[in-house]
Amino acid sequence: MSNDRPLFFQVMQYADRADGDVINMVSGSPDWEPPAALREGLVEYADSEPDAFQYQPSEGLTKLRAEIAERRGVELEQVVVTNGGAEANYLAMAAALERSAGDEVLLTDPVYPYYPRKTELLGGTPASIPVDADGTLDPAQVRDAASEETAAIVVTTPNNPTGAVYDEQTMRALVAIAEDVDAVVISDEVYDHFDYSGTFTSALAVDSSHRIVTNSFSKSMAITGFRVGYVVVPEELVDAVQTRHMLVNVAGSRPAQYAVLQALRETETAYYRENRERMRARIDAFTSGLERAGAEYTMPDGGFYVLARFPDFPGTLENVEQLIDDVGVAGMPGEAFGRTREEWIRFALLSPRSEEAAGRLAEYF
Ligand SMILES: Cc1ncc(COP(=O)(O)O)c(C=O)c1O
Repeated sequence: MSNDRPLFFQVMQYADRADGDVINMVSGSPDWEPPAALREGLVEYADSEPDAFQYQPSEGLTKLRAEIAERRGVELEQVVVTNGGAEANYLAMAAALERSAGDEVLLTDPVYPYYPRKTELLGGTPASIPVDADGTLDPAQVRDAASEETAAIVVTTPNNPTGAVYDEQTMRALVAIAEDVDAVVISDEVYDHFDYSGTFTSALAVDSSHRIVTNSFSKSMAITGFRVGYVVVPEELVDAVQTRHMLVNVAGSRPAQYAVLQALRETETAYYRENRERMRARIDAFTSGLERAGAEYTMPDGGFYVLARFPDFPGTLENVEQLIDDVGVAGMPGEAFGRTREEWIRFALLSPRSEEAAGRLAEYF
């Protein structure tokens, strides 16, 4: 297992050290307010008796698990509250690899970079399935690639980095393939509140013991620093997932989970809608700048990211650094996401200056 620092940290560091004024479009951290009830929950927690500052049940605050279970239409036992979507994905992949005779994990290309590295960390073998130019995943290709060696099929919807949203038909087809080869679909749905297409379908809509859903409050509540996510597992995997979670963490952060519970209960849908609308407006403004720059780009159906390809300017680390120095706009090199988008640069539209960034790019190219 190599310990090389992900490209992400290299680019962040380069942008931080740059002399000029840099608009940072590298990181996936929202720049807007969390729900008001979340702040209130935290303040309230600060005044608790000392016993509230001690361990909570390993699998998470029971009331939070119950709230999640009710909203997701699953049993309480199936929900484990995790240290963000990151741990949820780790637990899901570990459980899938443990239950399977095979060690292969099917991923897409482009891919969220942590999946292949987590697969290797867990002793699995990553394999890639390319997606179409617009990010569409063709289940027929997944079927061709799947075999008895396959332990898991990992998908992200809405997708990072393509912005694709997989519809119900795709989710059903993926779960059916997992059932046929005795594997598990792991559906990472951390961007589920940012579906602009209206076609998002959670894997939970497909009733099967061959699917695991991972999710998080990092993006939906703008709290990437809180580290609260969850995994929904089929009954037969509950024990393995709870045990690994307990042995690694003992338990999660109780104040953070308490505040999330308050926010889940009290936040109106308008909060989520406003965040979604803000992102849509940013997408429109940013892509119109890309249009002026003569770039090719993806129009996301969901999530936070736009991929762009500039004329004669491949998305290498070197060129990304050049953009930071010359234009003051920082994105992520496409090579971070696999082989198929090496020419592209990913921009996270999580800066209020997204439109200004697009203006700078339009002027430069
Ligand atoms: C696809 C995907 N999954 C998981 C995560 C991690 O989320 P969390 O902060 O909940 O660990 C991210 C963060 O950017 C992501 O893009």
